[in-house]
Amino acid sequence: MTDSTQKATVATETDENKHRKNGLYRQVSAELAENMKQGWADTERHDLEPATQAVHTARRRRALSARFPGELLVIPAGNPKVRANDTAYPFRPSSDYVYLTGDQSQDAVLVMEPGRSGGHQAIAYMLPRSDRENGEFWLDYHGELWEGRRNSPAENEQLLGLPCRDVRTLAGRLGAATGPVRLLRGHDAGVDAALEGKVTAEHDDEFRVALSEMRLVKDEFEIADLRFACEATALGFEDVVRVLDATAPTPERLIEGRFWTRARLEGNDVGYASVCAAGSHATILHWVRNDGDARPGDLLLLDAGVETRNLYTADVTRTLPVDGRFTPVQRKIYEAVYAAQEAGIAAVKPGAAYRDFHDAAQRVLAEHLAAWGLFGDRSAEEACALGLQRRWTLAGTGHMLGLDVHDCAKARTEMYVDGTLEPGMVLTVEPGIYFQSDDLTVPEEYRGIGVRIEDDILVTEEGNENLSALLPREAGEVEAWMARLRS
Ligand code: GLY
Ligand code: MN
Ligand code: MN
Repeated sequence: MTDSTQKATVATETDENKHRKNGLYRQVSAELAENMKQGWADTERHDLEPATQAVHTARRRRALSARFPGELLVIPAGNPKVRANDTAYPFRPSSDYVYLTGDQSQDAVLVMEPGRSGGHQAIAYMLPRSDRENGEFWLDYHGELWEGRRNSPAENEQLLGLPCRDVRTLAGRLGAATGPVRLLRGHDAGVDAALEGKVTAEHDDEFRVALSEMRLVKDEFEIADLRFACEATALGFEDVVRVLDATAPTPERLIEGRFWTRARLEGNDVGYASVCAAGSHATILHWVRNDGDARPGDLLLLDAGVETRNLYTADVTRTLPVDGRFTPVQRKIYEAVYAAQEAGIAAVKPGAAYRDFHDAAQRVLAEHLAAWGLFGDRSAEEACALGLQRRWTLAGTGHMLGLDVHDCAKARTEMYVDGTLEPGMVLTVEPGIYFQSDDLTVPEEYRGIGVRIEDDILVTEEGNENLSALLPREAGEVEAWMARLRS
């Protein structure tokens, strides 16, 4: 094989590693090699329409361009991660690359070239079609014969609305860079290496923060996609209710699989590992082992979200009585969380401080915990001031949502948790009470009960809209909904 068969972009990959597949067949006769070059139809398409998202990605790139005039901007999609030997984890491109291009190709890199008279020219560097002449398309196991047809750069230009070039020419371009460069570091080791010495960690951090902050306010495409993610998620929750057995244990893994099937069918995947937490597992916030059973009489805390094919995710939690009816003590705790969520959602409106919804929900939770005698002689206010409720409320009440479940995580504190809500922001409101099964400070009947209710809330001009309102939240409505689905 010659160097021209190298599939890797600016990264290096040895010939030896590329051809391990089907070791038995590694020996290729000259006749077969010649045979495989020929007899393939020209499938190039010239009739592709720009993707709906293209006008939005163009606008996002213009905003980024205005923020970093005169600088070369480099945003890699990233490379597949090896799972073992020659198998890889499913590839998901970096969210910022998706945000700016709408594309999901592996090994691609968005480069924004500063123009002499201002602005930038955006170019997507991508893998071209596999070469048939040199055998790349079938001898390289990353070739299209093995992994499926890729769009050509010309086809991608039609779809994405920006020039596309062969990523194997990128190393030369980056090597020749002389002016200031900003890199979204950490996604493509080859790109990082190619720019070594031309970028600084400080500038790159500023770049990462700017990208995160750009994504705080969603545009209409993003809101529509998040709405769809919530609709698909509601279908997934319905599927789970249908599979929950009211009289016998239901494996948490079956619940996980049911939801995942819906996620794959309607979208791309789940947006994060589903928490399928039955009984006392519900008190473990990151319970993703999902190796227990949901038993009649227990609660099931299901925290799951469909990620759409554009890679936006919902993040929804419902806490359901497995047999369809809350016990009195389950209902008491559930209703406290519901009241807290109502207070939290009511605090989501434009101009409100981001922290308001968290404070409102925590106050209501603390009032209930105080009424149950859990703070001794202390009032809810005193307990809140000391943060004592956190023994049982554990987590913050929400976060931004978008391409990432914990979206915009690199935004500066003053722009996010110390910031102000604006129309177009989407955030979760997800209060909970978690009584660990070994917590001797609470009545025995509370131990092992965990309840969270989580919805995805869009800030509107008037106040807010609950994008996940298709799923009931009030206890009686939850019971009626479950009964309907099972009848
Ligand atoms: N599912 C992750 C979260 O609720 O933040
Ligand atoms: Mn969640
Ligand atoms: Mn969440």
